Formats: sequence, C-alpha cells, structure tokens
Amino acid sequence: MKKFYITTPIYYVNDKPHLGHSYTTIAADILARYCRSKNVEVFYLTGTDEHGSKIAEAASKNGFTPQEWVDKNVEEFKLLWERLNISYDYFIRTTGEKHVKKVQEVFSKLLKTGDIYKGKYSGWYCVACESYYTDTQILSFACPDCAKEVWKLEEESYFFKLSKYQDALLEYYEKHPEFLQPSWRALEMKNFVKSGLKDLSVSRTKVKWGITVPGDEAHTIYVWFDALLNYLSAAEGKNIWPCDVHFIGKEIFKFHAVIWSAMLMALGEKLPKTVFAHGWWTVNGEKMSKSKGNFVNPHTFIDNYGCDAYRYFVMSQIPFGQDGDFSEKSFFDKYNSNLANNLGNLISRTFSMLEKFSLQDIKAEVDKESSLGKLIVDFDKKYSKFMESIEFIKALELIWEVINEANKTIDSEKPWNLFKIDKVKLEKVLKNLLSAIEIVSKSLSCFMPETSEKIKKIIMDRKVTEPLFPRKDGKD
Ligand code: MSP
Repeated sequence: MKKFYITTPIYYVNDKPHLGHSYTTIAADILARYCRSKNVEVFYLTGTDEHGSKIAEAASKNGFTPQEWVDKNVEEFKLLWERLNISYDYFIRTTGEKHVKKVQEVFSKLLKTGDIYKGKYSGWYCVACESYYTDTQILSFACPDCAKEVWKLEEESYFFKLSKYQDALLEYYEKHPEFLQPSWRALEMKNFVKSGLKDLSVSRTKVKWGITVPGDEAHTIYVWFDALLNYLSAAEGKNIWPCDVHFIGKEIFKFHAVIWSAMLMALGEKLPKTVFAHGWWTVNGEKMSKSKGNFVNPHTFIDNYGCDAYRYFVMSQIPFGQDGDFSEKSFFDKYNSNLANNLGNLISRTFSMLEKFSLQDIKAEVDKESSLGKLIVDFDKKYSKFMESIEFIKALELIWEVINEANKTIDSEKPWNLFKIDKVKLEKVLKNLLSAIEIVSKSLSCFMPETSEKIKKIIMDRKVTEPLFPRKDGKD
C-alpha cells in the first residue's frame, strides 16, 4: 500500500523558528502519529527553503557565504523539532544536490513542452529591496516596503504559462471538494482564479543565490518555483506521490492551491489530495513581527512547562483552520487547570487509591451502565472521525470529556466510603477508572507522546512516582 504522505511548508532558514513554524509542524506530527497508530505507513516531510536574495544579504552582513549561513541556521530548526518530538521521516533542504537537479530537470521539461517560455518582465524596481512592484503597489513612485524611489525597468525573464491552466484549475476545484480545506477558505482561491490568471515570471537575473536556469546561467529560478518542487523531489523514487496532505499557513494558500497545482498539471502529475491552510496566531492580540520583536520562542515554553504542555496548548487553544491568540497567561491557566489539575489529579488520585485499598492487581473493565463507561464505549469511533477530518481540537475535547467524567465519578462515588461499605462496587468503580485512563493514554499518544508513555508506565507499575504536570504558582 502507498505510504500516507504528509508535508509542512519548508521554512525560510533566515528566521529563527517561532510559534508559527512550530504550529504547522506539530499539527503534521499529530496526524503522522495518528496514522502510524492505525498501522498506516507514513512519510512525513519537513525542511528548509534556502535560496533567494534575502538569505544572501543576511549571510554577507554576518560575514558568511550563503552556504555557510544556511548550514548554520538549519540547525536551529532541527534542534527545535528534536525538542518538540517531531517524528519527521525526511528533512529536505533546497540547497541539496538531488533537489537542485530535480528543479533543473523540471524547468527543462517545461521549456520543452512550451509551458515555460522566455519573455520580457517589466515593473517598478526598488534597488534597496531588490524587488519589483506593480503599478498598483507603488505609492507615488516610492517603494511600498522602504519608501525609496522606484524605477521602471524591463528585463528578460522566463515565464510559466499559468494562464493556460485557469479553466483546468476551476474544473479541478469543482470536482474535488476535499482538495482545498477548510472549504470556507477555498472560495477565496476560486474567486482569485476566476478573476483571471497571468503568466508567472519564474526566473531572476538580479538574484544570484539560487538554482541556475539550465543552459542560461544569467538567470536563477524563482524561489517559489524552486521551493514548491521540494514536495516532488523528496518523493522521488519512493512511490508515494500524490501527497495526501500539505499542511500550510493561510498566507501561502494561493501558492499551493493555484501555482503548485498548475505546475503539477503542466508536468502531468497528480495533484495532492488535500491542501489544508490553517489560521494565524497573534500574540497578546498583535501580529508577530520583527519591528515589535514579539515572536514567541517555543524554547522558552518548553523550558518552563515541557514539550507536551506546549504541544497541548497550541492544539487546544484554537480550532485548526482558524486564527487565534497566544498569551502567556492563557498558557499558564490552561496548564494548571487542564494538565496539572484535571489530567494530573485523575492519574495520581486513581493510583494512590489502588495502593491504599491494596487493589493493584485489578484489571481495567468498562462499566457500560455508567456515564463514564458510555463515553468509553463510544470513544474510538468519535475520536477517529475527528482525527480523520483534521478537527484536532474536537479530538482533544473528547479526551478531556473522559478525564472530567472520570474525576466526577471519583467525587460522586467516593471510593473511600465504598471501601468501608461495598468492596464489590469499589472494584467496579476503580476498574472503570482504569479503562478511562487506558483510553486517555492511548489517544494522547499523538498529541503528547511523552505523557502518553509516562501514563503507560504508571499503568504497568500501578504507581505514580512524580506528578505528571507539577502545578505552577506563577512565579517561575
Ligand atoms: N518558504 C516559504 C514556504 C515554502 S513551502 C513550499 C515560507 N516560509 S516561512 O518560513 O515564512 O514559513 C511560513 C509558514 O510558517 C506558514 O505557512 C505557517 O505554516 C507558519 N507561520 C508563520 N507565521 C505564522 C503565524 N503567525 N501563525 C501561524 N503560522 C504561521 O513561507
């Protein structure tokens, strides 16, 4: 059977990895782990986007060659993925030899078929930003980014015949409603394509740090054309194409839904099954930006709360697909209430009761008549449905429903009283609680792999040696 192929965007290696990058990567990791738990073989791809003038500029400012610079910075991403327990199968870098070869091959093939042609590009050029702008972007002959003067320039460029694919794209979107998700975001893409597609300039003469156009060394290939092909070059020889899910942020939906899809059509390749565009995080209500210096550094939270608390927070805070806000206060509150209290207490209370009542030998058994038992019986079906429709927050809410019901059961059944008056009932209640904990541990394995392992060990040893999530008092 073909492996299930999941990807993240490849991140610009110039930036340090932040909350946004970690979000997509964790989401893809959760789906990858879920598939593996169902015995589906997975190929999970992530990596870095390493070409372009911004990289070359930063390298030279810092006294490095571009290659030295990307080699150094890529380690930041690899380190964070290790600390976040990301189970990727392959890490692609666009400066890798195999990828470069693939991009050049594709370029040559499309030149031959006529899908790429040489033409003239004209626009308003800003020397400081090394970028072209259109008539509507410039503000009284000034650059929209740095406000310096812009010049009308014309240069030779290779173009990709994007316009040719307008009707084919619209037809594809119509026939494959699962392709662009969430579906409410797809409408924007359809309208964009309907409004008319222009051919896309896919080479630059002014950018030196890039893959050269085969046979025309004065041109380098446009970074997006290069970057999108990572999904195909990483898959080569593995028999895993088409990709099953591309996870991306909403700001690069167009690149995937329109340009990438048209490129694949031109190549005669199948399109990915789904492109899922999630929403954006703000921080304390503001956009993360260099000027505000408010990028959330995941390491700070991993240091203070642990990797699993971070993974849990980002997935439980907002429905995947929508925008949401990150704040230290909401992180702290959620940690204490949902992890230290609800989950942590359930585990410590249950196992200390087993010890106290000398019932460590009992085995999990669902009491189907109880409200907790009813939740457990229905659990798998509902959980799988949520995971498979990429509704991660609903899957987590379902797990917490079980946790909360289990805690309620302890409060209402009062096992310490049952111990005195009804030992049969006591065992029944505790067996039911063990079933709940087993299901919690199993289903948390995609979201919080370390915690799930710890709970498994507690179940085996019948003993809690330290709290899963020590309460925070707000001072650290
Ligand atoms: N290199 C391109 C992608 C090429 S894919 C063929 C790129 N890189 S990036 O470093 O800017 O990463 C963009 C991705 O980071 C977004 O698609 C999203 O996954 C993530 N995020 C960056 N900021 C984000 C938020 N504020 N919120 C959520 N995710 C965001 O674009």
